[in-house]
Amino acid sequence: PSADGAARVAHPNGTVQRLPDIVIIGVRKGGTRALIEMLSLHGDVAAAENEVHFFDWESHFQKGLPWYLSQMPYALPGQLTVEKTPAYFTSSKVPRRLQQVNPGAKLLLILRDPTERVLSDYTQVYHNRLLKHKQHQPIEEVLVLKDGGVNLGYKALNRSLYYVHMQNWLRHFPLDSIHVVDGDALIRDPFPEVKRVERFLRLEPQINAANFYFNRTKGFYCLRDHGRERCLHDSKGRAHPRVAPDILQKLYRFFHEPNRKFFELVGRTFDWN
Ligand code: A3P
Repeated sequence: PSADGAARVAHPNGTVQRLPDIVIIGVRKGGTRALIEMLSLHGDVAAAENEVHFFDWESHFQKGLPWYLSQMPYALPGQLTVEKTPAYFTSSKVPRRLQQVNPGAKLLLILRDPTERVLSDYTQVYHNRLLKHKQHQPIEEVLVLKDGGVNLGYKALNRSLYYVHMQNWLRHFPLDSIHVVDGDALIRDPFPEVKRVERFLRLEPQINAANFYFNRTKGFYCLRDHGRERCLHDSKGRAHPRVAPDILQKLYRFFHEPNRKFFELVGRTFDWN
Protein backbone atom coordinates (compact mmCIF):
# COMPACT_ATOMS: atom_id res chain seq x y z
CA PRO A 1 0.00 0.00 0.00
CA SER A 2 1.07 3.56 -0.54
CA ALA A 3 0.00 6.91 0.84
CA ASP A 4 -1.40 8.10 -2.49
CA GLY A 5 -4.47 6.65 -4.15
CA ALA A 6 -7.94 6.80 -2.70
CA ALA A 7 -7.63 7.45 1.03
CA ARG A 8 -11.36 7.68 1.53
CA VAL A 9 -14.51 5.92 0.46
CA ALA A 10 -17.69 7.99 0.33
CA HIS A 11 -21.13 6.77 1.35
CA PRO A 12 -24.48 8.24 0.26
CA ASN A 13 -25.55 9.64 3.65
CA GLY A 14 -22.51 11.88 3.78
CA THR A 15 -20.33 9.63 5.88
CA VAL A 16 -16.92 8.45 4.70
CA GLN A 17 -14.54 5.64 5.52
CA ARG A 18 -11.21 7.34 6.04
CA LEU A 19 -7.75 6.35 7.12
CA PRO A 20 -7.67 6.63 10.91
CA ASP A 21 -6.69 9.95 12.43
CA ILE A 22 -5.95 8.08 15.64
CA VAL A 23 -4.44 4.64 16.15
CA ILE A 24 -4.42 2.90 19.51
CA ILE A 25 -1.25 0.87 19.05
CA GLY A 26 -1.29 -1.11 22.31
CA VAL A 27 -0.20 -2.48 24.53
CA ARG A 28 -1.97 -5.82 24.66
CA LYS A 29 -3.80 -6.02 28.03
CA GLY A 30 -3.03 -2.39 28.75
CA GLY A 31 -6.70 -1.38 28.77
CA THR A 32 -7.07 -0.79 25.03
CA ARG A 33 -10.75 -1.79 24.92
CA ALA A 34 -11.60 0.46 27.86
CA LEU A 35 -9.74 3.33 26.17
CA ILE A 36 -11.48 3.06 22.78
CA GLU A 37 -14.90 2.67 24.46
CA MET A 38 -14.30 5.71 26.63
CA LEU A 39 -13.05 7.75 23.70
CA SER A 40 -16.16 6.76 21.76
CA LEU A 41 -18.25 8.64 24.32
CA HIS A 42 -17.14 11.70 22.36
CA GLY A 43 -19.48 12.67 19.54
CA ASP A 44 -16.62 13.61 17.24
CA VAL A 45 -15.06 10.16 17.36
CA ALA A 46 -15.95 7.22 15.10
CA ALA A 47 -14.30 3.96 16.16
CA ALA A 48 -13.66 0.75 14.24
CA GLU A 49 -15.45 -2.06 16.04
CA ASN A 50 -12.95 -4.87 15.61
CA GLU A 51 -9.20 -5.09 15.92
CA VAL A 52 -8.00 -4.55 12.37
CA HIS A 53 -4.52 -6.17 12.37
CA PHE A 54 -3.65 -4.55 9.05
CA PHE A 55 0.00 -3.69 9.57
CA ASP A 56 0.99 -6.78 11.56
CA TRP A 57 -0.77 -9.64 9.75
CA GLU A 58 0.75 -10.35 6.33
CA SER A 59 -2.51 -11.81 5.01
CA HIS A 60 -4.27 -8.51 5.76
CA PHE A 61 -1.44 -6.23 4.69
CA GLN A 62 -1.25 -7.91 1.29
CA LYS A 63 -4.86 -6.93 0.63
CA GLY A 64 -3.73 -3.32 0.49
CA LEU A 65 -5.21 0.03 1.45
CA PRO A 66 -8.69 -0.53 -0.03
CA TRP A 67 -9.15 -3.40 2.39
CA TYR A 68 -7.83 -1.33 5.31
CA LEU A 69 -10.29 1.44 4.45
CA SER A 70 -13.13 -1.05 4.25
CA GLN A 71 -12.49 -1.89 7.91
CA MET A 72 -12.96 1.71 9.01
CA PRO A 73 -16.21 3.06 10.46
CA TYR A 74 -18.39 5.42 8.46
CA ALA A 75 -17.54 8.83 9.87
CA LEU A 76 -19.42 12.09 9.56
CA PRO A 77 -17.54 15.16 8.34
CA GLY A 78 -15.64 16.53 11.32
CA GLN A 79 -15.47 13.21 13.11
CA LEU A 80 -12.10 11.61 13.82
CA THR A 81 -11.66 7.96 12.92
CA VAL A 82 -9.91 5.63 15.36
CA GLU A 83 -8.82 2.01 15.14
CA LYS A 84 -7.14 -0.12 17.80
CA THR A 85 -4.89 -3.10 17.33
CA PRO A 86 -2.96 -3.82 20.54
CA ALA A 87 -0.45 -6.06 18.78
CA TYR A 88 0.93 -3.13 16.74
CA PHE A 89 3.06 -1.83 19.60
CA THR A 90 5.21 -4.96 19.88
CA SER A 91 5.44 -5.83 16.19
CA SER A 92 8.74 -4.56 14.79
CA LYS A 93 7.54 -4.03 11.20
CA VAL A 94 4.49 -1.96 12.09
CA PRO A 95 6.00 1.49 12.82
CA ARG A 96 7.59 1.78 9.37
CA ARG A 97 4.50 0.50 7.57
CA LEU A 98 2.18 2.79 9.48
CA GLN A 99 4.43 5.76 8.87
CA GLN A 100 4.48 5.10 5.12
CA VAL A 101 0.70 4.95 4.91
CA ASN A 102 -0.34 7.40 7.60
CA PRO A 103 2.51 9.66 8.77
CA GLY A 104 0.21 12.21 10.39
CA ALA A 105 -1.61 9.72 12.62
CA LYS A 106 -1.87 10.49 16.30
CA LEU A 107 -0.91 7.46 18.31
CA LEU A 108 -2.28 6.37 21.66
CA LEU A 109 -0.32 3.89 23.74
CA ILE A 110 -1.88 2.65 26.96
CA LEU A 111 0.54 0.99 29.37
CA ARG A 112 0.25 -0.70 32.74
CA ASP A 113 2.73 -1.80 35.33
CA PRO A 114 4.73 -4.33 33.28
CA THR A 115 4.49 -7.10 35.90
CA GLU A 116 0.73 -6.65 36.18
CA ARG A 117 0.53 -6.73 32.36
CA VAL A 118 2.41 -10.06 32.27
CA LEU A 119 -0.09 -11.57 34.73
CA SER A 120 -2.97 -10.23 32.66
CA ASP A 121 -1.41 -11.63 29.47
CA TYR A 122 -0.89 -15.03 31.12
CA THR A 123 -4.51 -15.03 32.34
CA GLN A 124 -5.81 -14.29 28.85
CA VAL A 125 -3.81 -17.10 27.24
CA TYR A 126 -4.81 -19.42 30.09
CA HIS A 127 -8.49 -18.72 29.47
CA ASN A 128 -8.14 -19.24 25.72
CA ARG A 129 -6.42 -22.58 26.27
CA LEU A 130 -9.04 -23.68 28.77
CA LEU A 131 -11.71 -23.00 26.15
CA LYS A 132 -9.84 -25.31 23.79
CA HIS A 133 -9.43 -27.93 26.55
CA LYS A 134 -5.67 -27.63 26.37
CA GLN A 135 -3.18 -28.04 29.18
CA HIS A 136 -1.54 -24.94 30.53
CA GLN A 137 1.61 -24.59 32.58
CA PRO A 138 1.30 -23.10 36.05
CA ILE A 139 2.37 -19.47 36.12
CA GLU A 140 5.47 -20.04 38.31
CA GLU A 141 6.85 -22.50 35.76
CA VAL A 142 6.25 -20.07 32.92
CA LEU A 143 7.86 -17.12 34.65
CA VAL A 144 10.94 -18.67 36.21
CA LEU A 145 13.45 -21.18 34.87
CA LYS A 146 14.69 -24.18 36.85
CA ASP A 147 17.92 -22.34 37.69
CA GLY A 148 15.86 -19.58 39.34
CA GLY A 149 16.38 -17.00 36.58
CA VAL A 150 13.55 -15.10 34.93
CA ASN A 151 12.37 -16.87 31.75
CA LEU A 152 13.44 -14.43 29.03
CA GLY A 153 11.94 -16.71 26.39
CA TYR A 154 8.43 -16.06 27.67
CA LYS A 155 6.70 -13.85 25.09
CA ALA A 156 4.56 -12.01 27.60
CA LEU A 157 7.71 -10.88 29.35
CA ASN A 158 9.10 -9.43 26.14
CA ARG A 159 5.89 -7.52 25.48
CA SER A 160 6.37 -5.77 28.81
CA LEU A 161 9.85 -4.51 27.84
CA TYR A 162 8.31 -1.24 26.77
CA TYR A 163 11.54 0.61 25.95
CA VAL A 164 12.55 -2.01 23.35
CA HIS A 165 9.37 -1.46 21.36
CA MET A 166 9.23 2.28 21.99
CA GLN A 167 12.71 2.74 20.50
CA ASN A 168 11.42 1.24 17.30
CA TRP A 169 8.39 3.57 17.19
CA LEU A 170 10.52 6.63 17.83
CA ARG A 171 12.56 5.86 14.73
CA HIS A 172 9.41 6.53 12.68
CA PHE A 173 7.19 8.88 14.69
CA PRO A 174 8.06 11.98 16.71
CA LEU A 175 7.52 11.67 20.44
CA ASP A 176 4.90 14.41 20.41
CA SER A 177 2.67 12.35 18.13
CA ILE A 178 2.51 9.54 20.71
CA HIS A 179 0.44 10.03 23.84
CA VAL A 180 1.04 7.51 26.61
CA VAL A 181 -2.06 6.75 28.65
CA ASP A 182 -1.50 5.55 32.21
CA GLY A 183 -3.52 2.32 32.21
CA ASP A 184 -3.32 1.88 35.98
CA ALA A 185 -4.72 5.38 36.46
CA LEU A 186 -7.43 4.64 33.89
CA ILE A 187 -8.56 1.70 36.04
CA ARG A 188 -8.49 3.69 39.33
CA ASP A 189 -10.14 6.85 38.01
CA PRO A 190 -10.76 7.00 34.26
CA PHE A 191 -12.13 10.53 33.93
CA PRO A 192 -8.91 12.60 34.35
CA GLU A 193 -6.99 10.19 32.14
CA VAL A 194 -9.62 10.41 29.39
CA LYS A 195 -9.61 14.22 29.61
CA ARG A 196 -5.87 14.16 28.94
CA VAL A 197 -6.53 12.11 25.82
CA GLU A 198 -9.27 14.51 24.72
CA ARG A 199 -6.80 17.42 25.06
CA PHE A 200 -4.02 15.60 23.24
CA LEU A 201 -6.39 14.96 20.31
CA ARG A 202 -7.55 18.59 20.40
CA LEU A 203 -11.15 17.44 20.70
CA GLU A 204 -13.72 19.87 22.00
CA PRO A 205 -14.18 19.10 25.74
CA GLN A 206 -17.26 16.91 25.80
CA ILE A 207 -16.67 13.85 27.95
CA ASN A 208 -17.66 14.51 31.56
CA ALA A 209 -17.48 12.92 34.99
CA ALA A 210 -21.10 11.72 34.77
CA ASN A 211 -20.08 9.44 31.89
CA PHE A 212 -18.38 7.16 34.46
CA TYR A 213 -19.66 5.32 37.50
CA PHE A 214 -18.06 2.65 39.64
CA ASN A 215 -19.76 -0.74 39.49
CA ARG A 216 -19.11 -2.63 42.74
CA THR A 217 -20.07 -6.02 41.29
CA LYS A 218 -17.66 -5.67 38.39
CA GLY A 219 -15.03 -3.93 40.49
CA PHE A 220 -14.36 -1.48 37.66
CA TYR A 221 -15.70 1.74 36.28
CA CYS A 222 -18.47 1.38 33.72
CA LEU A 223 -19.85 3.86 31.18
CA ARG A 224 -22.96 5.96 31.06
CA ASP A 225 -23.77 7.15 27.57
CA HIS A 226 -26.96 9.13 26.91
CA GLY A 227 -28.53 7.55 29.99
CA ARG A 228 -27.55 4.00 28.99
CA GLU A 229 -25.23 2.20 31.40
CA ARG A 230 -22.82 -0.49 30.35
CA CYS A 231 -19.72 -2.26 31.58
CA LEU A 232 -17.00 -3.87 29.49
CA HIS A 233 -17.30 -7.54 28.57
CA ASP A 234 -16.58 -10.20 31.25
CA SER A 235 -13.23 -10.92 29.59
CA LYS A 236 -12.09 -7.46 30.74
CA GLY A 237 -11.22 -7.31 34.41
CA ARG A 238 -10.44 -10.95 35.14
CA ALA A 239 -8.97 -12.19 38.42
CA HIS A 240 -5.25 -12.89 38.08
CA PRO A 241 -3.53 -15.98 39.52
CA ARG A 242 -1.89 -15.64 42.91
CA VAL A 243 1.87 -15.59 42.48
CA ALA A 244 4.36 -16.40 45.26
CA PRO A 245 5.77 -13.13 46.69
CA ASP A 246 9.39 -14.05 45.97
CA ILE A 247 8.58 -14.59 42.30
CA LEU A 248 6.70 -11.31 42.11
CA GLN A 249 9.69 -9.57 43.68
CA LYS A 250 11.92 -11.18 41.07
CA LEU A 251 9.74 -9.78 38.31
CA TYR A 252 9.57 -6.31 39.82
CA ARG A 253 13.34 -6.28 40.11
CA PHE A 254 13.71 -7.59 36.57
CA PHE A 255 11.62 -4.75 35.13
CA HIS A 256 13.29 -2.01 37.14
CA GLU A 257 16.02 -1.20 34.61
CA PRO A 258 13.86 -1.59 31.46
CA ASN A 259 11.30 0.72 33.08
CA ARG A 260 13.97 3.33 33.80
CA LYS A 261 15.02 3.20 30.14
CA PHE A 262 11.42 3.68 29.05
CA PHE A 263 10.97 6.71 31.35
CA GLU A 264 14.10 8.21 29.85
CA LEU A 265 12.80 7.68 26.31
CA VAL A 266 9.47 9.40 26.96
CA GLY A 267 10.68 11.99 29.48
CA ARG A 268 8.09 10.97 32.03
CA THR A 269 7.82 8.50 34.91
CA PHE A 270 5.05 6.12 35.97
CA ASP A 271 4.49 4.63 39.42
CA TRP A 272 5.27 1.06 38.43
CA ASN A 273 6.77 -1.23 41.06
P1 A3P B 1 -7.49 -7.71 33.25
O1 A3P B 1 -8.63 -8.46 32.64
O2 A3P B 1 -6.25 -8.50 33.33
O3 A3P B 1 -7.84 -7.07 34.58
P2 A3P B 1 -7.19 -4.88 26.86
O4 A3P B 1 -8.54 -4.33 26.54
O5 A3P B 1 -6.07 -4.09 26.27
O6 A3P B 1 -7.12 -6.36 26.60
O7 A3P B 1 -6.97 -4.71 28.42
C1 A3P B 1 -7.74 -5.43 29.37
C2 A3P B 1 -7.56 -4.78 30.71
O8 A3P B 1 -8.25 -3.53 30.76
C3 A3P B 1 -8.15 -5.57 31.85
O9 A3P B 1 -7.15 -6.47 32.27
C4 A3P B 1 -8.50 -4.48 32.88
O10 A3P B 1 -7.65 -4.47 34.00
C5 A3P B 1 -8.33 -3.18 32.12
N1 A3P B 1 -9.39 -2.21 32.30
C6 A3P B 1 -9.19 -0.88 32.37
N2 A3P B 1 -10.33 -0.23 32.58
C7 A3P B 1 -11.30 -1.17 32.65
C8 A3P B 1 -12.71 -1.09 32.86
N3 A3P B 1 -13.31 0.07 33.06
N4 A3P B 1 -13.41 -2.26 32.87
C9 A3P B 1 -12.78 -3.44 32.69
N5 A3P B 1 -11.45 -3.57 32.47
C10 A3P B 1 -10.70 -2.44 32.46
